[in-house]
Amino acid sequence: MSQPEALVVDDLKRLDIGSAEFRRDAFETYRELNAECPVHRVVITNGDQGGEQQGFFNRPIIFVTGYDEASAALLDPRFSVDAFSMMTEEQLAQMPETAEEFRPLRRSVLSVDPPDHTRLRKLVQKNFTAGEIEKLRPRIREIAEALVDEAIAAAEARGETAPNRTMELISQFSYPLPMTVIAEMLGVPEADRDDVRRWSENLLSSQRATPDQQEDTLRNLRAFIDYLRTLFAAKRVEPGDDLISAMVQAEEDGDKLDEDELLSMVFILIVAGHITTVNLIASTVFALLTHPDQIAKLKANRSLVKNTVEETLRYWGPAETTTARFAKEEVELGGVTIGRGEPLIAALAAADRDPDRFANPEAFDIERADANRHMAFGKGLHVCLGAPLARLEGQVALEVLLDRLPDLALGVPAEEITWQASFLRSLTALPVKF
Ligand code: HEM
Repeated sequence: MSQPEALVVDDLKRLDIGSAEFRRDAFETYRELNAECPVHRVVITNGDQGGEQQGFFNRPIIFVTGYDEASAALLDPRFSVDAFSMMTEEQLAQMPETAEEFRPLRRSVLSVDPPDHTRLRKLVQKNFTAGEIEKLRPRIREIAEALVDEAIAAAEARGETAPNRTMELISQFSYPLPMTVIAEMLGVPEADRDDVRRWSENLLSSQRATPDQQEDTLRNLRAFIDYLRTLFAAKRVEPGDDLISAMVQAEEDGDKLDEDELLSMVFILIVAGHITTVNLIASTVFALLTHPDQIAKLKANRSLVKNTVEETLRYWGPAETTTARFAKEEVELGGVTIGRGEPLIAALAAADRDPDRFANPEAFDIERADANRHMAFGKGLHVCLGAPLARLEGQVALEVLLDRLPDLALGVPAEEITWQASFLRSLTALPVKF
C-alpha cells in the first residue's frame, strides 16, 4: 500500500466538497474537471476542519466525473467499500480510536462487501421491491394531503388568502413526508418521532462536528441507541406488522442479523430514508418553478410526472457522490493507474451531466427520453435500496402539489434561494406561495 502515501499532496487539486461555494459552482467544476479527464486524483477538504487526514479528507483520492468511468468503477469487483479490509495490521493499529458509541454503526450494509453485504441486503430487499413499495401509494398520498391541509390551515390562520398564502416547503412538506413514511414502515410510534428526527439530524451533522460538538453528538447517539434497543425489545415481545418486527424475527431465527447489524440497518434506513428524499421533493419543485416552460408542459400532460422526477434526479440528484471505494489491487481507469488501497469516489452528479452520455446535459428537460439512465441512486451491488420508495414519494408529492396547489409559485426571487453547505444537494429553505 505504498502509492497513496507516496503521492505529493501539494500538487493535487483541492475540492472542499461540503462548502457552500463548492455546491454553488459544482457543475462548472465538474464540467472543467471532466473536460480535462474523466478520472482525477484530488484532495478533498472539509471546510475549516483543519488539514488532518481523516476518512477520505486531506489525502489523495480518485474523483471520477465521467459517466462510463463512474459506472465501470461501481460495477468493478476489484473495488471494496470496506476501508478496514485494505489496511495492514500496522495501519489498523494507527487508526484513531472510534468512539464506543459509533462501534455498532461501523458495519452497515453500505460499508461491507459480500458475503456480509449479500446477507444484510437480502434481509430488507424484499420489503423494498417496486411491487411492495407501490402498495404504499395510497398511504403516502394521504400523508401528503394531510401536510397540504395543515399548510393551508396555518396560512389561513395567519389571515393569508390564495394565491398569496405562504409556506416553507421543506419544513412543512418535503421533510415530514418521507420521515413519516419511513417511521411508519419501521414501526416507530408516533409519539417518539420528533425525538427520532432530532437524533438522526444530529447524526448527519456529526460528519462536520467540531471537537467541541463531538460530546453533544455522542450524547445524542447514546440516547438514540438506547431508545432503539428498548424498541427492539418491545417488538420482540409484541411484534407488529412493521419492518423492525420483521428484522427482529429474522435475528431470532438464526444468526442472520446481530443486534449491532440491526442497529446499523435501522440507522441507515432512517437517515438514508428521509434526508435525500426531502431534497428530491424540494429540488423537483424548485426546478419546475424556475423553468416555467417545463411546469407548463407538466400541467398540460400529467403523465410526465414520473419522468419529471427522473430528470430532477439526473439534473440535481441529492447524493452528489458515492461513499468511498478502495482498490483491492492496481486498477486502470480512464487512463489513470489506481494503486492498491487507494480510495475512490464517484461524482454521480458530474456523471449525470457528462455530455458524452446526455445530450445538452445542462438543460432541465422533463421530456428527456433517457432521463432515467441517471446514476443518482448509484450502481452495482450498493445501488440504492430505497430507490423505488424515493421515486414513489417524489411522484406522489408532485401529484399532490399540482392537484391541491395549482398556483404554487416561489415566495422569494429565485436568486435568494441557496444551496446548503453540505455533501448533499440540499436547499437551505424553499419559501413558496399558493
Ligand atoms: C432521492 C432519494 C435517494 C437518493 C438520491 C439515494 C442515493 C443513494 C446512493 C447514491 C446510494 C449508493 C451509495 C454508494 O454506492 O456509495 C444509496 C444507497 C443506499 N440507500 Fe439510498 N438514496 C435515496 C433514498 C433512499 C431511501 C428512501 C432509502 C431507504 C428507505 C435508502 C436507503 C439506502 C440504503 C440502505 C443504501 C445502501 C445499499 C447497499 O449498500 O446495498 N435510500 N442511496
